[in-house]
Amino acid sequence: MVEFALPKNSKITEGKAWPKPATAKNTREFRVYRWNPDDGANPHIDIYHVDTDDCGPMVLDGLIWIKNNLDPTLTFRRSCREGVCGSCAMNIDGQNTLACTKSMHDVGAGGAVKVNPLPHQPVVKDLVPDLTNFYAQYASIEPYLKTVTATPQKEWRQSHEDRAKLDGLYECILCACCSTSCPSYWWNSDRFLGPAALLRRRAADAGRSRRGPAFYNRSSYKS
Ligand code: SF4
Ligand code: FES
Repeated sequence: MVEFALPKNSKITEGKAWPKPATAKNTREFRVYRWNPDDGANPHIDIYHVDTDDCGPMVLDGLIWIKNNLDPTLTFRRSCREGVCGSCAMNIDGQNTLACTKSMHDVGAGGAVKVNPLPHQPVVKDLVPDLTNFYAQYASIEPYLKTVTATPQKEWRQSHEDRAKLDGLYECILCACCSTSCPSYWWNSDRFLGPAALLRRRAADAGRSRRGPAFYNRSSYKS
């Protein structure tokens, strides 16, 4: 059995236990991964108590409440707050998911809500992963339709049948939850593009019969 040893400076330690808000009647405990590249300290888990009477129901609402009311240094990404942009992807109670669509009531069985960054990516700070490689892989497949047929004088026409081929393939919001939960991607992300890039490649393929053969620069892909 292979045993892995973490470098000392990557071991997660106990962090700060923030006091419960004095006036809160109902609270929910959050245990949140913290790491600051500027202070030289190990990553640690901070414990917060969110006033659930003063906060929306989603895990992202809890994080925003913490940032606004307790600890403005807590760092995470978010934008749309409705499952559209993919920025708030993180690991909540052991599952990669979107914090804005994950209800606090659905995690932790009433206990602590455990929040970590997406796994197996370098961490920029706290809950913010470095997705440079993920985006570069996506760009590498040139995830759009290409054609060698003549450009029409007006718009490209698309039949209902061709449009239907994209259903289930184009909805990806590039949150990276799938790729960062995939063991092949963990160990071989320098060579394996991961599910998100492959899905979009499949979507590009789905549209090509209408417009002539697609072509890609990557020699490993044959049109
Ligand atoms: S395919 Fe992957 S990256 Fe795209 S939305 Fe689904 S989980 Fe997120
Ligand atoms: S904030 Fe946009 S998907 Fe969560």
